[in-house]
Amino acid sequence: MIIDVTDRKRAERAGRETEELLATVLERQRIAEDLHDGIIQSIYATGLAIKECRRLIDDGRPDDARDRLQDTITMLDVIMRDIRNYVAGLHPEALRDLGLSRALLELGRDLELNQLASVIVNAAPDLDGALPPQVARELFHIGREALANVAKHAPGAHAVLNLTRANGTVTLSVHDDGPGFDAARAASGRGLRNIAERARRAGGSMAVETAAGQGTRITVRVLLPASA
Ligand SMILES: Nc1ncnc2c1ncn2[C@@H]1O[C@H](COP(=O)(O)OP(=O)(O)O)[C@@H](O)[C@H]1O
Ligand SMILES: [Mg+2]
Repeated sequence: MIIDVTDRKRAERAGRETEELLATVLERQRIAEDLHDGIIQSIYATGLAIKECRRLIDDGRPDDARDRLQDTITMLDVIMRDIRNYVAGLHPEALRDLGLSRALLELGRDLELNQLASVIVNAAPDLDGALPPQVARELFHIGREALANVAKHAPGAHAVLNLTRANGTVTLSVHDDGPGFDAARAASGRGLRNIAERARRAGGSMAVETAAGQGTRITVRVLLPASA
């Protein structure tokens, strides 16, 4: 049999080009998701804090307004730092410095401090070492988006985030006692789609349980590698 070397080389090159193109498209998608889930949520929260300042001024409470303004300045500093780190291709600062469990605890604390939601975070610290960094990163973003959704769509609700591990599976769930929503109608939301996509990328799956007036529960399950 005669193999045409030129044809084979051409086919190999075309294959490589397709792979590179696909990698570029996936990378762009990842950047769009990261911006939506991370930096944009933080800016949104800062905007809410500034609105709160306006309300405090209108209420004749300039000292409280000044305190809240100081908080928003700190929030903007963190956002700037996160953008710099993101551009440098690093993980969110908190995740890198603290590990997943403590980073999630901090996230809940920030939302509480900013009075955006009442949050309880139960996260087992012994989990951190068992998670591949990519999985920890996806779970962090998932937790952040789910909590941001409580602050945004269920203001005043109580949220609980649980991070547990059993039988080789790590489970992240966020539930709240807010108004809930029609899951079929909201299926097109970018945030929930990102959660599903991140769960899939981490090798797991995501489920939403909600109904009008019944609160919301997001559950993500990821199978850990056999060695973990
Ligand atoms: N915890 C929640 N409580 C009430 N409604 C929610 C909650 N999470 C999501 N939703 C609803 O689902 C929709 C889609 O959410 P999402 O995909 O995160 O998009 P976004 O937050 O950008 O609107 C929201 O617009 C909201 O109507
Ligand atoms: Mg959202």
